[in-house]
Formats: sequence, structure tokens, C-alpha cells
Amino acid sequence: MLKEKVFDKYKESADFILEKIKIEPEIAIILGTGLETLLDEIEDKIEINYEDVPNFLVSTTKNHPGKFIFGKLSGRYVICMTKRFHYYEGYDFDELATPVYVLRLLGVKTLILTNAAGAINYNFHPGDICLITDHINFAGVTPTRGNNLEEFGERFYPIDKLYDRGLRNLAKKSAIDLGFELKEGVYFFTVGPFFESPSEIRAIRLLGGDLVGMSTLTETLTAGHCNMKVLAMSVATNYSSDRIENMDGSEVEDVAKEVSPKLKSLIMKIVKELGE
Ligand code: HPA
Repeated sequence: MLKEKVFDKYKESADFILEKIKIEPEIAIILGTGLETLLDEIEDKIEINYEDVPNFLVSTTKNHPGKFIFGKLSGRYVICMTKRFHYYEGYDFDELATPVYVLRLLGVKTLILTNAAGAINYNFHPGDICLITDHINFAGVTPTRGNNLEEFGERFYPIDKLYDRGLRNLAKKSAIDLGFELKEGVYFFTVGPFFESPSEIRAIRLLGGDLVGMSTLTETLTAGHCNMKVLAMSVATNYSSDRIENMDGSEVEDVAKEVSPKLKSLIMKIVKELGE
């Protein structure tokens, strides 16, 4: 059975949120694993649980169901998603378009994404913050498959400038002002939930992948469809499976938490500069 995307359903979700927040945020931030400290800095917060939003995705983690947090960050109105949705949790790829389409209908034009990723590039080490300059999607899946919603964008759309150069330059400059440099690389998407085999990693490196992860792609591809500017950053939380003895992922959350304050300062600075 062909499942249809229905514009009015996204609109209903967005209207529910707008009713509560009243002001259209221009910037949305989706936070990756362990990278939540930014939320402490949001002022005049309004919180909306995902589960209360009509037609929105239902979280698979009962004790951390996720919410939208709207408020002011560095003097600008932003909306954050505290938890993202992954393919490995069981959603269909087209369902994973939902968060970004809803954010677009809230008025969001700039999307900032963070994630935890494995470091494939030999110059990348756990703790590095890396700008995503491009991605490789060999999973054969797309969130924008199915009937096209013209309200968001064209049936066929380019993704060669998905990771906005202006935002990347701003991020690089902001990091230097804060006293560090960002690495830059290509994000290779894998469906997970298993980590990669060493042979897969060696193949990915040959293909040009610098970082590997199980998220973000659905969001950037949907943002490309509805003409949002994207800034995506990975925190390298671990060496890829060919660079270490035991690849069990145990350090992912701890390293992300350690780097989280640095990433928070960077995002705050970027958001501030965006307003100037
Ligand atoms: N592989 C895939 N996803 C990840 C990794 C990894 O090494 N680290 C954090 N997320």
C-alpha cells in the first residue's frame, strides 16, 4: 500500500505548536546524543512534549520521550528538539521527514544539527568538533520519496549546496574567536543500529567518508526539499572500528557530554552572529 504524505497533517502539528509559542522562530536546533547542555541557556522557555503534538512521531524511548523547547538564545527566538528520531528505531524513512516539515511550517529558515559520529579520517580524534561539508548516502533510502508536497518544494531538487557555505564560514570564524578550530569532513550515513565492520569502514574511507553516523541525513535531505539553510556539526565521539581494538560504543555518550559545553558556546555565538 502506498502511504501518502498529507500537507494538512503537518500543518495541524505546526498550528498546535504555534498556538502555544505565538512567535515564529527562525532558527531550529536538533541536538544529538549527549549534547543537551545548550538547553540550559534558553530563556523564557515554553516546552511542548512531542506526544502532545497531533500527528507527530511517537517516541520509542518511554523514559525520554522528547520535547520541543522554544525560547530565546543569544537574543534570538529558537526552537530546539531535545531528541531526534532515527531509522533504526523502526520509523519508515518518509515518516522521518515529519520533524523538519513541521519546523518549516513554524517559520524556521535555518536548521542547526548536531550529532555524535565515529571518526574515520586519520586526522580526526574523539572530542573534535567537525563541520559536515557534504554527505554520502548509500543506504538507498530517502525521506522525500512518495507523493511530492508542492507546498514545500519541487519534485526534483538539488542537494549540492545543502550544507550552506555562508553558515559554515560563520561557524569556522566563530570557533576561531572562541579559540579553537573546526575540522571539516564528509558524513557517511549508515542505518545502524550496529556499528560498522572494519572492512566497511575501510571501504567508506576509500569512498571519501570522514565521519560515520546513524542520524542527520533524513533531516538535511528534508531541509533541502523545503529550502532551509543547514548547518550540521558532528562531535567525533570515537574512532571508527578499524582504528580501535574494541568497538563497543561505550564512550559515545561520555565524550559527547564532555564536548557539549564547547559546542554550546559555539552554537550560542553562531546564533548571536546570525542576528547581526
Ligand atoms: N558509527 C556510527 N554511528 C556512530 C558512531 C560510529 O562509530 N559513533 C557515534 N555514532
